[in-house]
Amino acid sequence: MLLLSQLVERPKSVLGLATGNSPLGVYQRLIENYRKGLVDMSRASSFNLDEYCGLAPEHPGSYHYYMEKHLFEQVNFRPENIHIPSGVGECEANARDYELELKKCGGIDLQLLGLGQNGHIGFNEPGSAFIFHTHKVALTESTIEANRPLFENPGDIPRHAITMGVGNILEARKILLIATGESKAQAVSAMIHGDITPRLPASILHTHANVTVLLDRAAASAL
Ligand code: GLP
Repeated sequence: MLLLSQLVERPKSVLGLATGNSPLGVYQRLIENYRKGLVDMSRASSFNLDEYCGLAPEHPGSYHYYMEKHLFEQVNFRPENIHIPSGVGECEANARDYELELKKCGGIDLQLLGLGQNGHIGFNEPGSAFIFHTHKVALTESTIEANRPLFENPGDIPRHAITMGVGNILEARKILLIATGESKAQAVSAMIHGDITPRLPASILHTHANVTVLLDRAAASAL
């Protein structure tokens, strides 16, 4: 497993982490190996790709909450080495602060990515020019709809988010993109076989020298 070998070979790694269903298996494997004493995160640091605007860290729909539950509370990252954009308060200012923290860390060694059904990476949504740094985005209707089941109260469904930019992602030394399920099959096929275009943000990964794409059969079914 790429994330595991990264940490074993370089315990001080800077990891770029993602949320959603796709990375859950990877986080589970990491936790199992941590419990067996095979991996240690006490010297590693992490930067999450994105966060919703307007959700407190303790909101179950926030990516802070997701990361605590699915990874951080079960392994031994030091809290001061964990970075997630803040969705509380002024998102534009929070995005600028996050960009500064990213610049100070010396670069991401391994960036984990999921894939949106519309080909987004992080929350770099289709249609606009590639934006290279951390910024605030308006979410597309398809992303808002995909999130609907996750929010009990429809009024809580976020319409904006902070995301690392395409440039931040491309600066990572290695990238691991994971996509699972049939709903990703078209985006996977367009990413692999289509043109490099802002209409499908994941297509920009063709310009990176070290990308691993991990798919289940359903996500690979349109290849
Ligand atoms: C959200 C996140 C993305 C993630 C995508 C896919 O939109 N911002 O970073 O890749 O969901 O999620 P899932 O893996 O649940 O399909």
